[in-house]
Amino acid sequence: MAMLLTSSSVVVLAISIAFTFSAAAPQQPLISRIAFGSCANQTSPQPIWDAIVDFKPQVFIWLGDNIYGDIRRPFKLFGNERTIGPWKNVPRFVSSSQDEMQSKYNIAKTNHGYSRLRKISKVIGTWDDHDYGLNDAGKEFKEKDTNQRLMLDFLDEPHDSPRRKQAGVYASYTFGPEGRQIKVILLDTRYHRDPLRSDGTILGTAQWTWLEKELNGGPSAITIIGSSIQVLSNLSACTGPLFYMESWGRFPSERKRLFNLISDSKRDGVFFISGDVHFGEITRFDCATGYPLYDITSSGLTQAVEKVIPSFLHFVLQFLAWLTPTTMRVMNKNCKHKSCTYGQPNFGVIEVNWDANPVSLKFEVRGVSGEAVNSVTTSLSELRARNSHMKAGDRRHCSLEVDLPWLVRRRLAILFSFVVAVVIVVQLGVLYVVISLMVKCHRKCKRD
Ligand SMILES: *[C@@H]1O[C@H](CO)[C@@H](O)[C@H](O)[C@H]1NC(C)=O
Ligand SMILES: *[C@@H]1O[C@H](CO)[C@@H](O)[C@H](O)[C@H]1NC(C)=O
Repeated sequence: MAMLLTSSSVVVLAISIAFTFSAAAPQQPLISRIAFGSCANQTSPQPIWDAIVDFKPQVFIWLGDNIYGDIRRPFKLFGNERTIGPWKNVPRFVSSSQDEMQSKYNIAKTNHGYSRLRKISKVIGTWDDHDYGLNDAGKEFKEKDTNQRLMLDFLDEPHDSPRRKQAGVYASYTFGPEGRQIKVILLDTRYHRDPLRSDGTILGTAQWTWLEKELNGGPSAITIIGSSIQVLSNLSACTGPLFYMESWGRFPSERKRLFNLISDSKRDGVFFISGDVHFGEITRFDCATGYPLYDITSSGLTQAVEKVIPSFLHFVLQFLAWLTPTTMRVMNKNCKHKSCTYGQPNFGVIEVNWDANPVSLKFEVRGVSGEAVNSVTTSLSELRARNSHMKAGDRRHCSLEVDLPWLVRRRLAILFSFVVAVVIVVQLGVLYVVISLMVKCHRKCKRD
């Protein structure tokens, strides 16, 4: 039972004690502000908590990489520990000991800003690879049970919680009074996951059975499904063969099963939140269920693509983000950048206006000073499967990235090959000039 000890719940409690004589449980407080985030390096400064605390979320959701538990070796082509190249002799990522994991969690949990948040919000969460224990790891990872215990300790999960006895950290919560309930379903995309490129399972049998029960169970006005990895965007389809990202798109059958389950459950008001990719964006897919599905991606609280290069080169990353084709990303005038991606540290926000008619929903990605950098406003009536089909204009986000024309889809790879070719030609040119100057000089010196 998720119970928030906010002042409003105390008021509700007081009112119900004063005016009701039945033994009915007091109504849960109405939830209208939820924040979420992912990818927090515990040894980096984490100034973003101030903006999150200022937002006064009633619930905060961790979406994974809540700590960086594994050890990352630097890129090295030469030397004793070679982490890249055909002659590489050690893996780039290795897992930490239990003590190391514990001390990393201690650093994260005692962070001043995060401690302030824990005092004002109910904090819940799931994990991704780096807090599961190893980059890109799945069901084969040996330390998963130990790390599950450490993660649940970090989240203050009660000692007798069933979540401590199951295989994996998936969980569901229901907040708010009847009729205005928000259900939060948190998936575990690690514990049972088959290897990448297998098109096997992400959730595993037991978690699928549980999820079916959750989605087919009692109604809620809003259902938020938290997945560490992106559900809608399949960036890899446009960044391959240069690089590949993890996502539900990499497991097409599993993704289809998820969409079918939502559709068959006839549940309205479902949307996703996700992390992992080190940038923020809002995506939308109109052809999975009878209404648009949104995926609000916030990543990360400290880890962000633009932080790994000097600021005078940020425009290059923004240009590449704009150039990368997408079929799902919501492009609107509320974006800070033309690409509608945000590569600086960020957190996600869900605001519900229960008093509006129809009930309105605002999804935002916000930066370190709390400013919105991506924003979409919709309403619960838009997230409802109607008997009539959506109007043609409503179905803007219906095609998959893999169905884009080859030239569009491979735009990045073509640009990359072109740049490499230009660099090689320029280098050959320079070499030619240097050699011919040397030959000329040699002849001249001989004559003199
Ligand atoms: C975390 O931050 C520390 C200190 O800034 C840095 O040395 C380390 O490489 C970072 N870890 C990751 C995974 O980025
Ligand atoms: C996502 O992209 C990968 C890589 O191109 C591809 O194998 C996969 O089928 C795509 N998934 C979907 C759902 O389009």
